[in-house]
Amino acid sequence: MKLALVIGTRPQIVKASAIVPELKRQNVDFQFINTGQHYDYEMNKIFFDEFGMRDSINLSVGSGSYCQQIVNIMLKLEQVFSKQKFDLTMCLGDTNSTIAETLVSFACSIPLVHVEAGARSYDMTMPEEVNRRLTDHASALLFAVSKNCAKNLLKENIPEEQIFLSGDPMYDVLLKHLKAIEKCGILEDLRLVERKYGVLTIHRPSNLTFEKFDSLFEAIKKSRTKVVFPIHPRTKKALETFHLKVPRNLLITNPLGYYEMMKLVSKAQFVMTDSGGLQKEAFWLRIPCLTLRQNTEWVETVRLGANELIENFSMLPEKIKECSSRDVKYKINPFGDGHAGKKIAEVVKSYA
Ligand code: UD1
Repeated sequence: MKLALVIGTRPQIVKASAIVPELKRQNVDFQFINTGQHYDYEMNKIFFDEFGMRDSINLSVGSGSYCQQIVNIMLKLEQVFSKQKFDLTMCLGDTNSTIAETLVSFACSIPLVHVEAGARSYDMTMPEEVNRRLTDHASALLFAVSKNCAKNLLKENIPEEQIFLSGDPMYDVLLKHLKAIEKCGILEDLRLVERKYGVLTIHRPSNLTFEKFDSLFEAIKKSRTKVVFPIHPRTKKALETFHLKVPRNLLITNPLGYYEMMKLVSKAQFVMTDSGGLQKEAFWLRIPCLTLRQNTEWVETVRLGANELIENFSMLPEKIKECSSRDVKYKINPFGDGHAGKKIAEVVKSYA
């Protein structure tokens, strides 16, 4: 049995790092393929270095419109899948690399495995929602990170025997690296005081408007709390066109590696983000999260009082204040036990 594992973006490299060692342990023959959707050092290679991994094929597709990116990945991936014989392909999450792999697997008649299946924001204006829905319905094996995700799949009439509750590979990764994260010196490097700052990330196209940034910066200024902002390259480009005055209490940095980012979050007073992964990472680190979106696929974090959706950014100063006295309390983590990678590899191995 030979498996193709395809990744392309920064969160997919993190997820893969929980699965790759387990595939090796189970002696699964696999090819680790990087589409190159993310290509800056801080968006891609740094994570390979941190997790001690290497891709075996890099398609170097780079950026482009939704259609360009997907088509470019498809054409290159089709060549790989036609040269080598794969019995199974594995995709992670909901990015353009995910949907491209889905379509090529279908075209080449190779059964597809979807990790992080069943996540739903029910917002069909987001490319991620379309990508993951189509992928779920084209997959032979679906790994759900929570009971809620598994329930979503059943509601859409996906046969129960194809669904496996694995838990979240991102949680495996966090647990595995907690000691190294603790040792990281980013607070000293940025001269930050524990619990006296917030962390901001924002990169969704719907948030990258002048009006949103104007009210976001105004809110940060009013909050008078130090906010660290590792900036996504797309956000940086957008911000340069807005010509807004950056508040004095906002510290903009380059994108950070995994250890630095997790250390920053673990000692923060709050997180403000529109990223899916970071909402869960804040939850596991028990740091209050303010999600800069109208909806989230990670509804469990909201139900358990750890995460709040913020549509109107003028609410932020008040919400930030509330976070300073808010404890994130929950007894059971709905995202598994930290052994998702092992469960996924075992099921894949038995698929042969
Ligand atoms: C993608 C995923 C998103 C995920 C995010 C993680 C899709 C549809 N979205 O969004 O779900 O949360 O990755 O970061 O796949 N750029 C660079 N250097 C890079 C990568 C990107 O400069 O290494 C810039 C380019 O201008 C590019 C833009 O960022 O056009 C957007 O990159 P893209 O990969 O299309 O989407 P993300 O916003 O990163």
